[in-house]
Amino acid sequence: MTDPIASAYRLLEASMVHYQGQPVGTIASLDAHAPAENYADCFIRDFVPSGLVFLLDGRGEIVRNFLSIVLRLRDQQEEMEGHRLLPKVMPASFRVLVHEDGREELHADFGDRAIGRVAPVDSMMWWIILLRAYCRVTGDTGFVRSTECQRGIRLILNICLQDRFEVFPTLLVPDGSFMIDRRMGVYGHPLEIQALFFGALQAGLAMLDPADAESQAVIRQSRKRLDQLTDYVRHYYWLDLARLNHIHRARTEMFGHDIENALNIYPESIPDWVTDWLPEDAGYLVGNLGPGRMDFRFFSFGNLLAVLFGLADARQSRLIMEVFQQRWDDLAGMMPVKICYPAMEGEEWRLLTGSDPKNIPWSYHNGGNWPTLIWALVAAALNTGHGYLAERAREVALHRLAHDGWPEYYDGRNGRLIGRRANYNQTWSATALILADKFIKDPSGLDMLRLGGAEEAP
Ligand code: GLC
Repeated sequence: MTDPIASAYRLLEASMVHYQGQPVGTIASLDAHAPAENYADCFIRDFVPSGLVFLLDGRGEIVRNFLSIVLRLRDQQEEMEGHRLLPKVMPASFRVLVHEDGREELHADFGDRAIGRVAPVDSMMWWIILLRAYCRVTGDTGFVRSTECQRGIRLILNICLQDRFEVFPTLLVPDGSFMIDRRMGVYGHPLEIQALFFGALQAGLAMLDPADAESQAVIRQSRKRLDQLTDYVRHYYWLDLARLNHIHRARTEMFGHDIENALNIYPESIPDWVTDWLPEDAGYLVGNLGPGRMDFRFFSFGNLLAVLFGLADARQSRLIMEVFQQRWDDLAGMMPVKICYPAMEGEEWRLLTGSDPKNIPWSYHNGGNWPTLIWALVAAALNTGHGYLAERAREVALHRLAHDGWPEYYDGRNGRLIGRRANYNQTWSATALILADKFIKDPSGLDMLRLGGAEEAP
């Protein structure tokens, strides 16, 4: 059998996107029969594991090219008449169009072409986080302190900190605004966005020049928001048996400050599965929270990013990894990692996905298993002293992924089948395995994901 890591690298090299003779990104999938045309684009979120691999391999210039291009692309965003869009968000993806005369043109999708017209809120957060990782690994503070980058960081943080019709410190977003980019009942305050927001605030604060008068207001506001966001998520999103008992017996319809059931969550809204499924000495951050609404589903990436970036405190992080350990068959099974657990079925699926045939129960975003999440599982496991979980995830993936042709996702309760409509040769499935393997062999690589702290040379 060929070496799976060597095969992953071949896919990574083949996915490279060039612009004006320079490598600037990687395309999402090399599958010629991909179900959607934009899989040939370079997606911002999909590039992140590629970028982290390049950084660990000493190829930081590719990451820098990518960061610069994406920053420039913001200016391509068109405005709708009568609708002032938020100031220049970052695109979901871009591609290089080559004209007949050889001229190259960059073309970005801000969600205006994407299936379902979804807003890629996560792109700008991933951009800041990757910039921080780039800086930690290369020590290229000159780039980070350049006028364009400083302005880019400020603009992103300002967009997130803008006033909204909101009473929570979490970020309010429409459905499908992150990795789950279809209707899945993930509108409002989904956990993954909050973890990325936390990461972006931390990374932004570490990189903005405090001596720059233009940055001082945003630095002040970001610090306050970071504190508020952290306290709020750690308190209100946390679910363990004690908390579940609390909600089960909670009083409702209470008015005023300092009341225990502030969001008016009805005990009747606790789904049956959660009572049996939640392990004794474990806990996790729930998927979403709003007025009268707690989405009890377990979203893996949001929880893993909360562990990695420190949105969850040390105890919570340990207990989240306990859930992975005790519910391994559900959350990793035959191919790590389940995107969310459990799947929505029946009427709930019909109402919340709009009868989406791609998101049928235990498939794709609705409970499918996504190899790209392996890097985050491995990193979080290593960070919390669960090295054997990291090994276990890598072993499963090493045995199947290359052999199966690097599918985008797997179907079934335990991820046994290759996703019915999954692409083959999905770049981030390959780069996630390379990264996981690197982290296990040399955990010092995890340092690049420490987002906080002042700017420093490596
Ligand atoms: C799908 C996924 C999204 C990913 C894109 C490219 O739309 O839902 O998360 O970025 O494919 O791989």
